[in-house]
Amino acid sequence: MDEVFKAIKNRRSVREYEETHLAKGDIDLLLDAAVWAPTAMNTQQVHFVVVQTESARKKLSKKVQDLVKKHNPEHKLRELDDPIFYNAPLLIILCAKKDSKWADIDCALAAQNMMLAAYSIDIASCFIGFACLLDEDEETRRELGISDEYKIVAPLVFGKARGEYPALKLRNPPDIFKWL
Ligand SMILES: Cc1cc2nc3c(=O)[nH]c(=O)nc-3n(C[C@H](O)[C@H](O)[C@H](O)COP(=O)(O)O)c2cc1C
Repeated sequence: MDEVFKAIKNRRSVREYEETHLAKGDIDLLLDAAVWAPTAMNTQQVHFVVVQTESARKKLSKKVQDLVKKHNPEHKLRELDDPIFYNAPLLIILCAKKDSKWADIDCALAAQNMMLAAYSIDIASCFIGFACLLDEDEETRRELGISDEYKIVAPLVFGKARGEYPALKLRNPPDIFKWL
């Protein structure tokens, strides 16, 4: 199977990570994969917050947990030390300008590029949609350097997978409305 297709099919969302930090070169490679994604009219308006320190990540995790509880007191998060970011050593938050029509799509494409590139160099990843809730917290936004015109679109964690790589999750066949 072609390498790209292999990565597309075999990448999994990983929820158990080694503590080991990723090399700066690998982080640069992930960011490089992001900027090579297509963007509408090549506007390249995808912005990044990189969180590597454990204390910063744990603080963000706690904040997300509080926000999840606030929105849905019934929601049961997994009983883990860090049920949001799974103690992954690297969190990269992709942000977009609020008033840009295509920005969400640009960020999503960049995010998938990053996760596939990560897979190709044996780095596991997971999209953490829950962390978009951080957008609601002014203080956190300020700490992350996200000004009022921007919003969080794609928080991603990366690291070396701990234990077994998750099994393939089967997909439904394509749901084709019409083939004309
Ligand atoms: C927009 C989006 C939000 C997601 N949010 C979370 C999340 O907050 N926490 C989590 O553990 N996984 C999250 N995921 C991962 C999905 O659960 C996962 O992609 C899906 O179950 C398919 O599994 P796979 O990625 O291993 O193929 C998210 C994925 C997407 C695309």
